[in-house]
This record gives sequence, structure tokens and C-alpha cells, in this order.
Amino acid sequence: MSNTDISNNIDAFWMPFTANRQFKNAPRLLVSASGMHYTSHDGRQILDGTAGLWCVNAGHCHPKIVEAIRAQAGELDYAPPFQMAHPKSFELSSRLVTMAPGDLNHVFFANSGSEAVDTALKIALAYHRARGDAGRVRLIGRERGYHGVSFGGIAVGGMVANRRQFGTLFAGVDHLPHTYDPKSQAYSRGQPDEGAELADALERLVGLHDASTIAAVIVEPVAGSTGVLIPPKGYLERLRAICDKHGILLIFDEVITGFGRMGTAFAADYFGVQPDMMTVAKGITSATVPMSAVFTGGKIYDTLIEATPIGGIELAHGYTYSAHPLATAAALATLDVYREEGLFERARDLSPYWEEAIHSLKGARHVIDLRNIGLIGAIEIEPRPGAPMKRTYEVFTGCYAEGVLVRQAGDIVCLSPPLIIEKPQIDRIVETLRKVLEKVD
Ligand SMILES: Cc1ncc(COP(=O)(O)O)c(C=O)c1O
Repeated sequence: MSNTDISNNIDAFWMPFTANRQFKNAPRLLVSASGMHYTSHDGRQILDGTAGLWCVNAGHCHPKIVEAIRAQAGELDYAPPFQMAHPKSFELSSRLVTMAPGDLNHVFFANSGSEAVDTALKIALAYHRARGDAGRVRLIGRERGYHGVSFGGIAVGGMVANRRQFGTLFAGVDHLPHTYDPKSQAYSRGQPDEGAELADALERLVGLHDASTIAAVIVEPVAGSTGVLIPPKGYLERLRAICDKHGILLIFDEVITGFGRMGTAFAADYFGVQPDMMTVAKGITSATVPMSAVFTGGKIYDTLIEATPIGGIELAHGYTYSAHPLATAAALATLDVYREEGLFERARDLSPYWEEAIHSLKGARHVIDLRNIGLIGAIEIEPRPGAPMKRTYEVFTGCYAEGVLVRQAGDIVCLSPPLIIEKPQIDRIVETLRKVLEKVD
């Protein structure tokens, strides 16, 4: 099929988060995948430097996960999750809570990161109300945070491009400042030394709104989608302490950082900071079937359950596809793969090599900062004067032409490969970037 044939046939599809007209002029289609590679529509092997969208942690089309989905589709296609259930939803929940940090011993299922975020925000509000503290209705997010695209997610999110088209969102939301300061943090390896005090902005918001009106704070432990902003040393600990002081719930959005991306099961483990709730998605099924979840601690679950008489529905919330049989089968197989292949440990062991590789780009043309943590990397590129994002878009398309998939976030190239990546593949990603940066104006 030539490019012209494709563009003639692709008008009907309104592509998400895509420059539709630009894309349709020169489409990039992926038609199959295996392990670390995609195959493009023009028959090229594309090395996946981004695990799809930070999600294919076990590598593409893992035979064990594929087989589990195939078998499940033939055995039980669907079971309603309201007032009914199927066995794998319990099995998966039990497995997940044994992996979760601290007392996060209950799991609520949804289908996407956005839905998990909405679910967690709703649980926070319902929890305070059940405690008799119904005045706690404010939600606090953070600038440059990404929590998906539902109204809840964009309200607490901090990306203006995702907010400005959609009116007033909802009332009672405020934001912490983001944690990135290039002056003190540029070229940090792992967590920057400077910036823990940025968490004190929460005290200012408490001073402004009063703690008695604030239900929860939601942050990504490592902000991913706005270009990999790594929390300064001590920042998350300080946020935790301020939340504790004022009875505010702390939600970690681990949609990207969950399931091995940091070399630990969750970023909460990596940083040693315990959230009251945790949202996960993506890596839970290695992206094979859409699934997400919210982990909650016993105090939240027990409070909500006990607030309603037996026979009453304790949380008026759920999705037709919560704990879908195909998703639970995929997740169970994915967790097996993570354990049997030691993929979280593999990510941990590879991360020093990864760090060296990313930072070897210091001095490369157009590079103004480099960041890394776990198997996450970011290359910040100096924008072309008067044309933000253009140069970085050309880096993205240039890498794709060279057979390497990277991700553009504004003027930052983000990297987050499947956890099965080999060292020569890390070298290839970095050398491709160096070559393309040299060529791009
Ligand atoms: C931290 C975070 N939260 C939520 C989401 C939204 O997930 P989804 O696109 O599955 O709705 C994302 C997606 O990248 C994310 O990175």
C-alpha cells in the first residue's frame, strides 16, 4: 500500500492527541509487533524506545500473555461486574495487594488511567463525607501534572493545552507549583538535590483555603507526560508530612511509574513514601487489554463500607468493563511474566547503564538538559526561536525514519523502553538521537 492509498482511506478516523492533517499527509502506521520492535506499514523494523505509550513493559506480543487472552476469550467473554463477578477478578485483586506498598489492600478496577484518576478523586470525596467531614471537597493537583483527560483529570492536571478548550472544568481545585527548575537541577542524575521546599506550597494552599476544605492532593511521583520531571530529594516526603498534619489524603498517580518502570513494583517503593491511594494502568496488563485500578488503604475502604447499612451499595461508582475477564486474564499473565522473567529487577540493574547512555548526550547539538530515573529518560531540546516544538517534532520524525520510536512532549524527547531492552538497543536509541540531532536545524 502506498502512502497515497493510506491517506485516501484514513479520513474518517479522528485521531486522539494528533495533528490530524499533518499526520494524514505522511502517515506512520504500525502493523505488527514482537518483543522490542514494531513493524511499520512500509515493512521496517522500528525499535520501541517508548514501550508504546509508557505501557508495554513486558515487551510486545509476549506469547504467555497472548495465550492467556486467547484462552480467556474462548472461555468467558464477559461477566457483569455489578452485583455479579467472575473468579479472576478476585484472584487478580489478591495478587495485586500482595505487591502493593504498605496497607494498600483493596483494589477498584477501571479501564484507563483517566478513569482510575476519576475513581480515586471520587473515593477521596466519598471517604471524607462518610467520616462526617463533607466540607472537604477541594482537590489539589500540580502544574505540569498529567492525570488523563476526563473532567476530573484535566481539572487537577496542569497542562494548559488540555484545559483551555473545555470551559471552567470544576470548582474547588487548586495546584501546587511544578518541581522543575533548570537553574538548579539541569543535568541531574536521578533525583535533583535542590527543590524539596517546593512541597511547602501545600502549606500555603492550606493557609489560603483551610485544611477543613481540602480532600486530597494528587501527584505523579515522577511527572511523565510533561517531559519527565523528577521529584527533588525530600520533596515527596515533605508532601506526605504536610498531608498527614492536615488530614489530607495523598494520591500517587502511578499510571506510568507502576509495574517496574522505576526498577521497583511502584514509585512509592522506590521513594519509600506511602500514599493513601495509588492509581495504576498501562503496565498492569503490559497494555495488551485496557485496564486500570485504584489501590486504597484499609481505612478508606473500611470507612466507606461501614458507612452504609448491609445491603446498601457503598460506592455508587463503576464501569461496565471494570475487571473485564480479558483484562484480568491479561493482567494475571503479565504479573507472572514480570515475576518469572525478573523484569522489575532487570530494569533496576539496567538503570545505571541507562543513566550513562542518556547523559552521554551532554554536549550533543541542541541539548539543554538530560534527566533520568529508573528506565525513564528525557532529552530537553532548545526550541527553534519563534517555533516551539518544531525542532523536537523533527527529531521525533527523524528518529522514526531511522527506525527508532521516541516520544515528543513539547520540546522534550521522552524515553521509556520495554523492560526487556538489551544494552546494544539502549546504545542504538542514543546514537540515533545523536545522529538526528546533528542533522536537524
Ligand atoms: C500519570 C498519568 N495518569 C493518567 C493517564 C491517563 O491514562 P489513559 O490515557 O489510560 O486515560 C496517563 C496517561 O499517560 C498518565 O501518564
